[in-house]
Amino acid sequence: MDKTAWWKEAVVYEIYPKSFQDSNGDGIGDLRGIIDRLAYVKALGADVIWLCPVYKSPMCDNGYDIADYYHVDPMFGSDEDMDELIAEAGRLGIKILMDLVVNHTSDEHEWFQKALEDPCSKYADYYVFRDGRDGEPPNNWRSYFGGSAWERIGDSNRFYLHIFDKKQPDLNWECEELRKEIYKIINYWLDKGLAGFRIDAISNIKKNIRYGTFPPDGEDGLCYIGDWVLNQPGIENFLQEMNERTFMLHDSMTVAEANVPDELLDKFIGENGFFSMVFDFSYTDIDVPESGEWYQPTNWTVKEMREKIFHSQMAVNSIGWAAPYLENHDQPRSINKYIPRQYINDYSKTMLGGLFMMLKGTPFIYQGEELGMENIRMDSIRDYDDIATFNQYSRAVMAGMTEEEALNVVYLRSRDNSRTPMQWDTSKNAGFSDSDHTWLKVNPNYLSINAEHNAVLEFYKKIIALRKSTQYADVVVYGRFVPIENTVDNVIAYERIQDERYLMVICNFQPEECEMLLHSGYSKILLSNYENGRIEDGKIHLRPFECAIIAKGFTPS
Ligand code: GLC
Ligand code: CA
Repeated sequence: MDKTAWWKEAVVYEIYPKSFQDSNGDGIGDLRGIIDRLAYVKALGADVIWLCPVYKSPMCDNGYDIADYYHVDPMFGSDEDMDELIAEAGRLGIKILMDLVVNHTSDEHEWFQKALEDPCSKYADYYVFRDGRDGEPPNNWRSYFGGSAWERIGDSNRFYLHIFDKKQPDLNWECEELRKEIYKIINYWLDKGLAGFRIDAISNIKKNIRYGTFPPDGEDGLCYIGDWVLNQPGIENFLQEMNERTFMLHDSMTVAEANVPDELLDKFIGENGFFSMVFDFSYTDIDVPESGEWYQPTNWTVKEMREKIFHSQMAVNSIGWAAPYLENHDQPRSINKYIPRQYINDYSKTMLGGLFMMLKGTPFIYQGEELGMENIRMDSIRDYDDIATFNQYSRAVMAGMTEEEALNVVYLRSRDNSRTPMQWDTSKNAGFSDSDHTWLKVNPNYLSINAEHNAVLEFYKKIIALRKSTQYADVVVYGRFVPIENTVDNVIAYERIQDERYLMVICNFQPEECEMLLHSGYSKILLSNYENGRIEDGKIHLRPFECAIIAKGFTPS
């Protein structure tokens, strides 16, 4: 039986600050805007906000390039606004998680600037500097955002490592003094009353630097870097130390962006694990090849998706706690990923919501997911903002695609698909901003998809209410996850069971109708995305993309 914890019972809502609500008319979302919309988050039923980075930053990667960990970027408001957000949210019973980005800083961070100025200063040890091979980089690793992972300093033979963009130099966790600086930052924020952190790219902090030319795996002559910078042996010492010196002292909630292989799960999220939970990428990146090069999407099936979800739930639940999610700021909109264009509608959207929100774990909802927001198709690659998008677009063109074909991949997978402004209502810029120019285009479909009169939103509210209800909370939160295997290929079904009380979730992931035999005793449809669900002769009849939650063993309230 799981130990109870407040964060296990929570529903998390992720806010991408640049795109949530603009309060001062500059076309960019900000902290005051978020404060103004807290009532919306409360009404949805979420009780934790994960706030993507708002620290001082030149914004080459929208704040994931931090120049000062102690201050809010003026674009988002003031330090006092952040204090006010924590306090106002607290009054509504909403806790705040910030994003912790400590694999790298911005190249504009004071530490990096000082390291460049004086290679003999202690700051030079804060980053990963290496000599090149006669002016060539130490090796041919490709950074995650494309191009060499090494950047040459001036005309010298000295290079620094950046596994993301060249404006995001990697920190050297081997340096004890640097680690202390990081713990100081974390404790500074936790002392302010933060509930915890979502921890960025943390699997990458230990590097296994090797010189040489590795077999290239692309037209650029470079090779995938992951094998030397992901979950490298020894990383556990850093993670353990960080936990002991920071999170543990505050009883924080932590969710790590870390793709953890099964055999390491126990160390990461077991009884004395480093984190409360980790995000699993296996089903959200089902359309991306292992190399991360999303311009070459995979062919996947609903059956594979079911296997991945079941595998993840079984592996994680036997050891710790899960963090199921459909979307985040690095993913396109889930509806466009999982459902063919012609079948995108409120049924398929709510079916996806039902499938994920009932899994065991703390659900994470990304802003606009609850409205059924969709991908955007901008006219030109120049309308986009995201560095990863530019990289994948040019890789696609380099690999021989036409510009039109490359743009089609962007329509499917660009991170900007989910970063467009939040669609509040039918007024100018969907109510996001009254500026004539928003930092990223508003999706023109806001006239029909927005937070007013929205069936998807109503469904999310109902399912969250179920999770919070006296009668069902216990089973929805703590009930065992039991996969149902013998369904037809395009149905995903599972049970949640606790003390002889059962919930069954069935999702008909296809445009065809079908029937499914139920285990005996299931007769009451608790929640469905259709009207008039039908159970007859122990069978449920499912319409296209129908999602039903059926109960048994509960005493009527
Ligand atoms: C994480 C963030 C992503 C960012 C990257 C580099 O993957 O979620 O948005 O680009 O780290 O910090
Ligand atoms: Ca603003």
